[in-house]
Amino acid sequence: MLLVLLFLLFLLACPGSSAAGPAITARTLPPCYSAALGPASQRLVSAVGCTVLLAAPLRATRLVLWEYSSGPREGAILTYTFDGPANTSRPYENRTRFNQTDFSLRMVLQPGDGRLYRLRSEAEATGWFQLRVVEPLSEPEIVGNSSVKEGGTAKLVCNVLGGKADSYQWKKNGELLLGSDHIQFVDNTTLCILKASMNDSGYYSCLVSNEVSQNETSFLLHVQNAANVVLPVILACVVVGSLAGVFVWCRRRDRPCHNPCR
Ligand SMILES: *[C@@H]1O[C@H](CO)[C@@H](O)[C@H](O)[C@H]1NC(C)=O
Ligand SMILES: *[C@@H]1O[C@H](CO)[C@@H](O)[C@H](O)[C@H]1NC(C)=O
Ligand SMILES: *[C@@H]1O[C@H](CO)[C@@H](O)[C@H](O)[C@H]1NC(C)=O
Ligand SMILES: *[C@@H]1O[C@H](CO)[C@@H](O)[C@H](O)[C@H]1NC(C)=O
Ligand SMILES: *[C@@H]1O[C@H](CO)[C@@H](O)[C@H](O)[C@H]1NC(C)=O
Ligand SMILES: *[C@@H]1O[C@H](CO)[C@@H](O)[C@H](O)[C@H]1NC(C)=O
Ligand SMILES: *[C@@H]1O[C@H](CO)[C@@H](O)[C@H](O)[C@H]1NC(C)=O
Repeated sequence: MLLVLLFLLFLLACPGSSAAGPAITARTLPPCYSAALGPASQRLVSAVGCTVLLAAPLRATRLVLWEYSSGPREGAILTYTFDGPANTSRPYENRTRFNQTDFSLRMVLQPGDGRLYRLRSEAEATGWFQLRVVEPLSEPEIVGNSSVKEGGTAKLVCNVLGGKADSYQWKKNGELLLGSDHIQFVDNTTLCILKASMNDSGYYSCLVSNEVSQNETSFLLHVQNAANVVLPVILACVVVGSLAGVFVWCRRRDRPCHNPCR
């Protein structure tokens, strides 16, 4: 009685494990600079542009079929009938390689390949194998003003152009920054330095990462001494109102005129 109960519990804990046939194992093949190369069963995370190898020990004598499923859509990737070359469906034509001996499939990944896969024969079928395909992150871009007045707010935004980042971190001169009253992270992508002081000058890097990659870029922030900026600026702007000649000079110098009068 206890044994039967344990067996039922086991079945409940591992749904499908008794029904499904042989299991697919998959791994990312080198060279792939982003995804991990270890083999996986049931689920694999890999990267766009990398090659994965899907394999399963399957009994077959007449027909093998690699299939995909994504939501309601199911389809054949390739059909092999043992009497000729494998018939590969068009979207997979030039980026898959089928091994007629062990039925394994190599596939160079594209962004839409994150879906379920299985191998089927006239005799049996594997369970569905889930592949997740993540785009490696390109170098991010930091947008902001490289020059900020002492006491002002510096706002640096980190934009990722290729791929989607799961996390953003900031470093100053190579050291990880922690949030405080002074340093604030907004919307994950933005660094705000409130009441900037001369000390805040330095190299700021934005580190982005996702499941298969990380990348970073840096930005030189210069906090200007208030005395150096305010004085000439006040002088310039006061004079601007009265003297046309100085106005012309001021326009040539451009920055000090626009900045403080906002
Ligand atoms: C390959 O498959 C397609 C679609 O399933 C079919 O139309 C075509 O006739 C097949 N080609 C061969 C050589 O079997
Ligand atoms: C695959 O390559 C062949 C030959 O290079 C080409 O004719 C065919 O259009 C390509 N198919 C796809 C789906 O890109
Ligand atoms: C196909 O699989 C067999 C058995 O695993 C292996 O010996 C052979 O090298 C493979 N062929 C190719 C072209 O990869
Ligand atoms: C960062 O992205 C650039 C392309 O934008 C790429 O060449 C470089 O390899 C990436 N760095 C890393 C560590 O992935
Ligand atoms: C910021 O990241 C957290 C998790 O790291 C996420 O839950 C949240 O949605 C993100 N916010 C934005 C605006 O992307
Ligand atoms: C600036 O840095 C110095 C030494 O690194 C520190 O003693 C001082 O408190 C800092 N000033 C501000 C305003 O953070
Ligand atoms: C940088 O500062 C100038 C002058 O204060 C301002 O006009 C400009 O909008 C700022 N740029 C950004 C990206 O904040």
